[in-house]
Amino acid sequence: MTLLSLKGIESGYGKLQILFGVDMDIRPGKISVIIGPNGAGKSTALKSIFNLCDIYKGSVVYKGKNITRLPTHERIGMGIAIVPQGRQVFCGLTVRENLEMGAYLTTDSALVERRLQEVLGHFPPLRAKLSENAYSLSGGQQQMLAIARALMQDPHLILMDEPSLGLAPKTMKEIFAKIRDIVDEGCTVLMVEQNAKSVCEIADEIFVLEEGRVALHGGRKLLNDPQVKHIYLGGHGHKEGRGPYLNKVLT
Ligand SMILES: Nc1ncnc2c1ncn2[C@@H]1O[C@H](COP(=O)(O)OP(=O)(O)O)[C@@H](O)[C@H]1O
Ligand SMILES: [Mg+2]
Repeated sequence: MTLLSLKGIESGYGKLQILFGVDMDIRPGKISVIIGPNGAGKSTALKSIFNLCDIYKGSVVYKGKNITRLPTHERIGMGIAIVPQGRQVFCGLTVRENLEMGAYLTTDSALVERRLQEVLGHFPPLRAKLSENAYSLSGGQQQMLAIARALMQDPHLILMDEPSLGLAPKTMKEIFAKIRDIVDEGCTVLMVEQNAKSVCEIADEIFVLEEGRVALHGGRKLLNDPQVKHIYLGGHGHKEGRGPYLNKVLT
């Protein structure tokens, strides 16, 4: 069973091609994680699913429907949400206003309120701060708010770009536990994650992206390979990234 498929995706920004034929099958009810060196195209892969970059070739199929050319707001309507990199909350707005923004496609205000209460159930610290400005939140709380805002639209698939970036280990653990809860309730998550420890803890499926291509794909045990660990999760730069292991696999 597949919820989302990327089939031979070639995409980028104007004349700058970043992805060169990416195939991915995302299974429902799982946490799939994209890892890979800086600049490999991880964020671009998420943007390709949300129509935030240019797609030259290939297709995006969601729930059996070809959505490659669908406008972003229609994707939201079909249950796809995105949590962009860098905890992008609206800092001039209160926590409540941020959450309400997440449900902007819903005109039924009673439904929005019900949704708000459900979402706050996942993130109790936000409840106490509903009328405070989002900028007064800690980094971890802002990340919670970014995720909570995505949940407001009752998505079936959430795309998350490096949700643990810049968070203390304890906060990161909390966030990942929440993400697992959300998945246990039936949501599917596709995320980009660079932190080795958190990938080990959270990934059901792993895609290693390198220079705009899926170099490796597998379950969590893919990370047991010392070369993969060292190359992709050790914080190495780009060019020296590909070691003997991947050369062997790829050639
Ligand atoms: N909006 C954009 N316009 C032009 N180039 C971009 C844009 N966003 C990203 N890029 C370029 O695309 C390449 C891949 O970026 P990205 O997908 O963000 O990589 P990753 O998330 O794996 O670090 C980088 O070289 C980056 O400079
Ligand atoms: Mg990125």
